[in-house]
Amino acid sequence: MDAELQALVDAARAVRERAHAPYSKFRVGAALVTASGEVFTGANVENASLGLTLCAERTAMSAAVSAGHRAFTRIVIVTQRDEAIQPCGACRQFLAEFASDLEIVAVGESGVVDTRTLQQLLPGQFALED
Ligand code: THU
Repeated sequence: MDAELQALVDAARAVRERAHAPYSKFRVGAALVTASGEVFTGANVENASLGLTLCAERTAMSAAVSAGHRAFTRIVIVTQRDEAIQPCGACRQFLAEFASDLEIVAVGESGVVDTRTLQQLLPGQFALED
């Protein structure tokens, strides 16, 4: 793992500690890189009304979009599982809004790295063209 990726994994692991996951106990952290090279992080935020839960990927992208960013190159995702876990379907569509071919790097606690593109994970993306 190169130093740049390691820094993103460290950032995702740090924000994972701030997850609000009292129901699933499944903590997730994400580090999203903007086209200008800034990094925004997000953790999952659960709610007693379970369907309102926000995934880490959507939290990270919402923070970045709220800060004015609209273009992204890469997202790194960690959970507390040994295997690398790729984003849920809802997050795939959410990420596609601003980065139709985002690089998605899922990193397991065993050190396994699973890199995909959003086109691979969500072919035939739904989009409304201008
Ligand atoms: N979760 C994420 O944060 N990202 C995903 O891509 C899938 C699931 C969260 C939502 C919920 O808080 C917990 O993991 C269990 O589903």
